[in-house]
Amino acid sequence: RKPVTINTIQSLYRKKEPITMITAHDFPSAHVADHAGMDIVLVGDSLAMVALGMDDTSEVRLDEMILHCRSVARATTGAFTVGDMPMGSYEISPEQALESAIRIIKEGRVKAVKLEGGKEVAPTIAKITSAGIPVLAHVGLTPQRQNALGGFRVQGKNVASALKLLEDAKAVQEAGAFAMVVEAVPAEVAALVTQQLKVPTIGIGAGNGCSGQVLVQIDMLGNFPPGRFLPKFVKKYGNVWGESMKAIQAYKAEVKSREYPAPEHTYPMPKEEYEEFAR
Ligand code: KIV
Ligand code: NA
Repeated sequence: RKPVTINTIQSLYRKKEPITMITAHDFPSAHVADHAGMDIVLVGDSLAMVALGMDDTSEVRLDEMILHCRSVARATTGAFTVGDMPMGSYEISPEQALESAIRIIKEGRVKAVKLEGGKEVAPTIAKITSAGIPVLAHVGLTPQRQNALGGFRVQGKNVASALKLLEDAKAVQEAGAFAMVVEAVPAEVAALVTQQLKVPTIGIGAGNGCSGQVLVQIDMLGNFPPGRFLPKFVKKYGNVWGESMKAIQAYKAEVKSREYPAPEHTYPMPKEEYEEFAR
């Protein structure tokens, strides 16, 4: 298919066609997302938790994000790829942010970067976009700031908080973000904010009034053990954990019973050769 560019995303937005986005963290997860026709593939720092087993996203480093970006970028020939800027790689100054963004593009081989925050990161977004690097903003619930927010909490639930969200959304738009993720916000607030903007909103836990949607792939595939906590907004479209479990258990049983490997999985040797060898 024709590679998705920033222009494709703008054209979807103008046509009011929902923009589809999903996370990927390595070559196979990016491959399937690309083949399924996702418009945008995000190398989210959520990979810290879902792929690397870390407690939260603050632990993952820039060089680690870059490694994952590079493996995803090798698989995404159609989708537009975005790499998350990890905590610590952009907060100190717009210069630090631009340096990190350049590394994500040059070494990670993705097409754009994403960073979290509202009004306070506007100068940072302006600096990065001035270098010709597209920025996807991220407002509402910003998981890298979970300690300051008091956990993963829904944002914009009262007038003051909803007004702050609107102000943040306008600020990152003015700073040059090509779109923004809006996370964990009441649907009607996200819809009104979307109407007030000239760039697309990509919702996660923000209702269907956004310009597009994003989910964490491991979550929506159901690739986690039973009983794990899932945020309310996650819809489980698959049962990859169950499929993997069945396959690995079948393999285990067949190894134990010597049913596997069968003759068709085995390399032959001419009988005379073997007889001489075994003598
Ligand atoms: O890290 C991530 O996966 C994200 C998406 C949920 C937007 O930031
Ligand atoms: Na993220």
